[in-house]
Amino acid sequence: MLQVENIVTCYGPSMVLQGLSLEVEAGEVVALLGRNGAGKTTTLRSIMGLTPPRAGHIRLEGVDIAGRPPHHIARLGISFVPDDRRIFPDLTVEENLELARRVLSQETRFSKKTWSLADVYGLFPVLREYRNRGGTQLSGGEQKMLALGRALVQNPRLLLLDEAVEGLAPLIVQEFVRVIREISASGITILLADQNLKFARQVARRGYIIDKGRIAYHDEMEQIWANEDVVRRYLAV
Ligand SMILES: Nc1ncnc2c1ncn2[C@@H]1O[C@H](COP(=O)(O)OP(=O)(O)OP(=O)(O)O)[C@@H](O)[C@H]1O
Ligand SMILES: [Mg+2]
Repeated sequence: MLQVENIVTCYGPSMVLQGLSLEVEAGEVVALLGRNGAGKTTTLRSIMGLTPPRAGHIRLEGVDIAGRPPHHIARLGISFVPDDRRIFPDLTVEENLELARRVLSQETRFSKKTWSLADVYGLFPVLREYRNRGGTQLSGGEQKMLALGRALVQNPRLLLLDEAVEGLAPLIVQEFVRVIREISASGITILLADQNLKFARQVARRGYIIDKGRIAYHDEMEQIWANEDVVRRYLAV
């Protein structure tokens, strides 16, 4: 579904991604792992068109989307959930979901299932309970749920998740594990950037490890988990 080929992405003069390649097949959950500053967020932003690569290709179902504007890429069925959530603080939970759905209710639906607000409330019952609360009156975890819900009602075929469970209590992390498995089972392909190997292992089948803007290693998550040398070298804090 997604092929990232040798992308080079820079912030001004500093070259952050230095020829990064990875591949995600339809239906997979793939993890992007690596230390702080390795380039995980930059990779997702490059795919979404928020920080376009200076070189290389990004193919979605064979079509090169590198350098296209983010709204265009969104309409091709990619949704990005940034780590800082970016929900609208002055709108209620329900208004946040409704706005996301209306702005990008895909005329062309890519997922097998069409996600409604009720489906999102089914995944996260707490959002139904707080549906008339403002965005700022939610906890960090609830804001992460809302941000994910906003992406789902856009009915993407590919979901890019940045640090989905960072800072969340273990019980809430387990709720996200269940939810991400459910989203995957509904037919949405997922690429998630994470530092949390334990979480990634529970949801992803394969993983790529980024080091200094390049893929240093990739394998099945179980192999990465079992490889003490790789974990120590690239992931241990
Ligand atoms: N807006 C920016 N301007 C300049 N440099 C940036 C910018 N954003 C990120 N960088 C740099 O790019 C490199 C990669 O950052 P990136 O955010 O992609 O890493 P990351 O793997 O997501 O890290 P983290 O685990 O901390 O989220 C870092 O060295 C960072 O300092
Ligand atoms: Mg990041």
